[in-house]
Amino acid sequence: MKSYEKLLLENKAWAAEKVEDDPSFFQRLSTLQAPDFLWIGCSDSRVPANEITGTQPGEIFVHRNIANLVIDTDVNLLSVLEYAVVHLKVKHIIVCGHYGCGGIKAAMSNGDYKQVLNMWLRHIKDVYRHNRNELDNIKDDELRTNRLTELNVVEQVQRLAKTSIIQRAWKEREGPDLHGWVYGLKDGIINPVYEMKANSPIDPLYVYDNI
Ligand code: CO
Repeated sequence: MKSYEKLLLENKAWAAEKVEDDPSFFQRLSTLQAPDFLWIGCSDSRVPANEITGTQPGEIFVHRNIANLVIDTDVNLLSVLEYAVVHLKVKHIIVCGHYGCGGIKAAMSNGDYKQVLNMWLRHIKDVYRHNRNELDNIKDDELRTNRLTELNVVEQVQRLAKTSIIQRAWKEREGPDLHGWVYGLKDGIINPVYEMKANSPIDPLYVYDNI
């Protein structure tokens, strides 16, 4: 059997099991999507949003990219954000990084990953540069990488708050709350490192007055 054929076989078994547990499972989900959460996570195959949070299909709206970045020219991310906030009206947005992230490690190296990846990773190098004093003082490589992983999710949460999408939602419905989490590959535990509840203060430079 080819590797991808196993996926299709496993899918049949999974669907049958779901129906056995709850005969109306697919019927219900096919007509309604009302998740409370938007998840912005790393594409890393070891960090599946539903599995590590014990949630089911229908509970989390998901966007993933390398190193869970919020780039304000990324139409993909912004479309997901707008749909989740304006239409699904999610209550919480979680930016979840993970210790041992290859994207973070690559950004801390001087490797040339060719144009497209260099362009993407430069956003993480910028986070390092903004926190250079703190990071340069951490002598242990792994601890320094872990700290940049945490500072990276803080930065991405703050970037969410800078968008007009979030500022408008905060004004109109006092939500969603924004969370920065880091998942541990070694123990499976999520470390909550940062939070911006709705209407938290934003650097005045980024506040839109016509919202
Ligand atoms: Co990663």
